[in-house]
Amino acid sequence: MEQSIESYIKNLVRDVIGQNLGGLELQCDRQTYVIANWKMNKDLNETAEFFQKINSSHDVSVVICPPTQLLYPTQLFIKQSGKPIGLGGQNVHWADKGAYTGETSGSMLTDVGSEYVIIGHSERRQYSFEDDELVNKKVQQALKSGLTPIICIGETLGQKSAMQTEQVLSKQIIGALKDIDTAHFILAYEPVWAIGTGQSATAELAQETHAYIRSILRQLMGQKAEGISILYGGSANERNAAEYSAMPDIDGVLVGGASLNAHVFDVIINAFAKGEQNS
Ligand code: PGA
Repeated sequence: MEQSIESYIKNLVRDVIGQNLGGLELQCDRQTYVIANWKMNKDLNETAEFFQKINSSHDVSVVICPPTQLLYPTQLFIKQSGKPIGLGGQNVHWADKGAYTGETSGSMLTDVGSEYVIIGHSERRQYSFEDDELVNKKVQQALKSGLTPIICIGETLGQKSAMQTEQVLSKQIIGALKDIDTAHFILAYEPVWAIGTGQSATAELAQETHAYIRSILRQLMGQKAEGISILYGGSANERNAAEYSAMPDIDGVLVGGASLNAHVFDVIINAFAKGEQNS
């Protein structure tokens, strides 16, 4: 297994004295993200109001993923606000263009200013029957279109109870990254049982799972795995964000419900911004 001297020392220190060397994390160029997944929420007025209230931060990468019909106005609101905020779609079709009623292509997303796109969210896996093969095709299309894919993975409660978490996650990761030879993507670990339920994973459990996810990435891409941001998602909120931000393998959060209120979302952004300043 490939391992840099830097990550070897970092892991050794972590194992022997149980401390994370934050400075070395930074040298790995791993970015911290706080990403809002608005799902099917907000109209034009509510969106305008959100951007009047939000403060954001230069210390972390903040991205808003509104519903498709709000992408273009959101781009304008972001520009008007002058704040360092990125824009992302919630889904992309695998084809370049064509007779796919109701779908959105990668070039359509970039055309209205998107730089990111969420792929393989568990709600889409559940309601639109997206499987790993389709997720992989969408990841390929996103990269081809110049978008950064935010690839979502996560186990259901049944799979967790049956102790299948690692098996499920490794299958989802390997499936999503088939024939992908770049590290230009973000992974979001979103346990299905934690999404929208208020039952967030503890920071310790999330850290343990993220470390496992990174070990799979190491097997797939060697040292490049150290630079991949792995976000936690699933009832992340203003009360638990600081705990997640303190964990060495949690590089940000993908936030649903708690991203809808600008003040609440700002608290989450600040929790990660502070973590960055302290590292
Ligand atoms: P939640 O959703 O924060 O409302 O649990 C997260 C997500 O589904 O991305």
